[in-house]
Amino acid sequence: MMQPLLSRSADFQWWKHGVIYQVYLRSFQDSNGDGVGDLAGLIARLDYLTGLGVDAIWLSPIFSSPMADFGYDVADHTAVDPLFGDLAVFRELVSQVHSRGLKIILDYIPNHTSEQHAWFLESRASRTAAKRDWYVWRDPGPGGGAPNNWRGEFGGSAWSWDEPTGQYYYHAFLPSQPDLNWRNPAAARAMLNVLRFWLDEGVDGFRVDAIHHLLEDESLADNPPNPQWREAMGPAEQFLKVHTVDQPEVHPFIAAMRRLVEGYGADRVLIGEAYLPIPRLMAYYGGALDGFHLPFNFHLMTTPWTPLALASLIGAYEAALPAGGWPNWVLSNHDRSRLASRLGEDQARVAAMLLLTLRGTPTLYQGDELGLTDVPIPPDRVRDPWELNVPGLGLGRDPARTPMLWSGAPNAGFSAQAPWLPLSEGWRDLNAARQLERPGSILRLYQALLALRRREEVLQVGDYALLGAAGGLLAFQRSCPESCLAVVLDLEGSGGVFPLDGGQILLSTLPGRVGERLESDLHLSPHEGAIVRRCPERQNVGERQNA
Ligand code: NOJ
Repeated sequence: MMQPLLSRSADFQWWKHGVIYQVYLRSFQDSNGDGVGDLAGLIARLDYLTGLGVDAIWLSPIFSSPMADFGYDVADHTAVDPLFGDLAVFRELVSQVHSRGLKIILDYIPNHTSEQHAWFLESRASRTAAKRDWYVWRDPGPGGGAPNNWRGEFGGSAWSWDEPTGQYYYHAFLPSQPDLNWRNPAAARAMLNVLRFWLDEGVDGFRVDAIHHLLEDESLADNPPNPQWREAMGPAEQFLKVHTVDQPEVHPFIAAMRRLVEGYGADRVLIGEAYLPIPRLMAYYGGALDGFHLPFNFHLMTTPWTPLALASLIGAYEAALPAGGWPNWVLSNHDRSRLASRLGEDQARVAAMLLLTLRGTPTLYQGDELGLTDVPIPPDRVRDPWELNVPGLGLGRDPARTPMLWSGAPNAGFSAQAPWLPLSEGWRDLNAARQLERPGSILRLYQALLALRRREEVLQVGDYALLGAAGGLLAFQRSCPESCLAVVLDLEGSGGVFPLDGGQILLSTLPGRVGERLESDLHLSPHEGAIVRRCPERQNVGERQNA
């Protein structure tokens, strides 16, 4: 008997077949003319997202914050920062999102708070304060300086001296982002309550920030030097983070988050941010699949863009997945150089096809669908604390965080006032309104890819198999009992011929080929990718059975 399609089974939750879209709120849409995006602006643009065809929004931090790290320094976890709106606007957003059949995922930042959080103010008040142990306090090291050689991600020591109480506190990121001590049960409980608060508000899940940083080795042993270190990597990479990230004790805490989230229903999702090699990343699904539903897979962002390297990455990732673990793929986010800058504008289209045809949940970053590139930031407009602390190495993240381009109106329709970061130079041509009018634009390609992914269940549920990786082409197949598609991508820009036994082109990254029938081989132009329906006889069987 034929197995029912996974898509029709009860455990095919939306986060398996849906596409997640990251909204970096500061740069999405300003509604009140302060040059910074906000919640009301997002509400006004929801139709754009339904028109694009995504399923869920992951919203960057909206919580009350001094914005030293643009919201990743939370001063009050259950208050909306006035810059973005208030709880009433947030409720309106949730209701509007849900009425459109979309989902909403919030950022959750368990590793650290702002130094201005009431918990930290209380913790640093005295050595005997009730919440002293909610953060990571240590005496000076034997020589009288910092307890050890641990570095902060944004430069400098990871320890800051607190003169009044005569101890150091630990911060994996900025000194103004002290690390919480999850080994303190009251602190852990308080942070779990934050999840409850937002789940009670109706959110559909969380993207959990910097989870691999949650705990440090209690022995405080020095990190060993990184033999591969070069200055361009930044000071934080000078030591291997053996004692500061990916400590095994993190997993029970993730399991506690998962239990809590699942208590609100099997359709809530927990996504983990951990930059780790594949074998170590897999542990974040949890030994009994009781960890993250989706530990973010960032490896497409760092793997060389060649057929062989990508084929071997995809194969290694698929092979490493635990039984029952659902894959996911990410090509860019607010922390990395823009996709179209890393790969070039032509390959950005091919990359979109790859991301939206691989097996597993894709996450898109706002603006990639417009083909945005990194925007050069003049020195007097740099905002990112990383660039401010470690200038000149290209570590700054402002270039990838610039505003969305909506139309030919002043400030690209983003704001009535000058935006907080400069716009892309080509905004008059790149803006969404313009691209929607232009067949063949990258935005229209994204729409077509998303529509195809929605329509062709095999792209959601089908198995993955490599067909070939040579001559600049990467080719793979997605198949299920009822359908079978080939995806062939020219990654190197020289075009090529891929042997196929006929089929029909469902979509090409270049305009004008949809519906083309192939007698045999597929001929690709430079920088072209195509999705071809194969096995037409099996498709007919499927269609007859559905009729
Ligand atoms: C990861 C976030 O994506 C990044 O923007 C932030 O600076 C760090 N975590 C610290 O929270």
